[in-house]
Amino acid sequence: MAYRKLYNNILETIGDTPMVRMNKICKHIPAQIYAKLEYFNPGHSVKDRMAIRMIEDAEKSGKLKPGGTVIECTSGNTGMGLALACIVKGYKLICTLSDKQSKEKMDILRAMGAEVYVCPTNVAPDHPDSYYSVASRLNKEIPNSFYPYQYDNLGNREAHYDSTGPEIWEQTEGKITHFVVGVGTGGTISGVAKYLKEKNPNIKIWGADTYGSVFKKYHETREFDVNEIYSYITEGIGEDILPKNVDFDLIDHFEKVTDKDGAVYTRELARKEGFFLGYSAGSAYAVIEQMKHELTADDVVVVLFHDHGSRYVGKVYNDDWMRDRGFLNDRNKTALDLVNKHVDKPLVTIGSEELVSSAIEKLKRYDISQIPVVQDGKFVGSVDERKIFDIMVEKNSIDHIKVKDMMAAPFPIVDSDEDLKSVLKRIDKNTSAVVVRIADDQYHIITRHDLITALS
Ligand SMILES: Cc1ncc(COP(=O)(O)O)c(C=O)c1O
Repeated sequence: MAYRKLYNNILETIGDTPMVRMNKICKHIPAQIYAKLEYFNPGHSVKDRMAIRMIEDAEKSGKLKPGGTVIECTSGNTGMGLALACIVKGYKLICTLSDKQSKEKMDILRAMGAEVYVCPTNVAPDHPDSYYSVASRLNKEIPNSFYPYQYDNLGNREAHYDSTGPEIWEQTEGKITHFVVGVGTGGTISGVAKYLKEKNPNIKIWGADTYGSVFKKYHETREFDVNEIYSYITEGIGEDILPKNVDFDLIDHFEKVTDKDGAVYTRELARKEGFFLGYSAGSAYAVIEQMKHELTADDVVVVLFHDHGSRYVGKVYNDDWMRDRGFLNDRNKTALDLVNKHVDKPLVTIGSEELVSSAIEKLKRYDISQIPVVQDGKFVGSVDERKIFDIMVEKNSIDHIKVKDMMAAPFPIVDSDEDLKSVLKRIDKNTSAVVVRIADDQYHIITRHDLITALS
């Protein structure tokens, strides 16, 4: 294996992030889906790429001079990229953040030497306390300061045209058919879209938007509708302004995603793919789920995930935070979650050659209502109380009746990562349970009763 070169400073490690096939979460979607994992950047987000670009552009144009102060309004990630650049290049950094951003993001910026101003979220952009206005005021007050203003600074999208776009094209060997990403300043989507569409104009560009943001309506009608603006919880995407970095002509479709779906999918991406990602990643993935009817087996979809999950441990990865917002109910759980407590206990089964009386004895001993029937290590049938009751009514005696002569069809087998909503659909009046495959020779059972208890 060839080892990488030595780097002269942390900034040289920005970019060249991995693209990883997604396997489980999207197994019901025919297309090949790849994740561009931007948390591999040194600041743990895609924004490192544009932060260094804005600083270097300002140095070249003379807007940023030695010993200067960089002031930026940020949802946290741009601040982190700027912090890396400022540390290496010797500038002071001040970040303004809105108070809905996670505490982790603020603490991280402080840890990286930045001064942080926390501003109210629920004020208009032109209000003197908004995080835009505070940054702009500080820029006027502080001598030798530079305000990159990532929303209108076109170096933002140019950074993605120069690096993220070419990486995606090369990593997919030009086979990409769809690019999906969350949209905030618009830098990522517009820069990547420009590069990809120049290579192949047929590539579809889909942006994730939030409820409470102006993008989708503006894209479809060219009307800036203030009624579209209200507060929402998702971090990093959606806007109440039209940043110059959003090139609406390059974007084929905006899809709105709820705060809940974004949060739930973010957690699923961690558990199913091993991707520990930020909140906007779940929103970007939700776009694929909501648009899957447009995808075919020939499609190669790339979804870009902006940042790392460590910034959200007190939020989407915290059960209490999720429950308080009504985002967590057992419908979001998997089959494994339900059997987890007794997963170490063996599954009670009965052999097909055994007598019904043995089955009754097991039902009583384990206080259960149904048992899977096995033969030669395979599930061949099932027995439940109702079936035994029917046989008792029908026959004078059950003494010599074998299980194989009265059993019903085997219980359906589900994978341990199947969500409870789909497990529920497999239970009907003739099927009182499902068998969960935990490992190759390890199974457990979920009964109708377990589901009623979990989902009520
Ligand atoms: C977590 C997260 N997701 C998505 C975005 C949106 O990216 P862009 O500003 O390039 O549109 C940002 C931007 O700050 C972000 O921090």
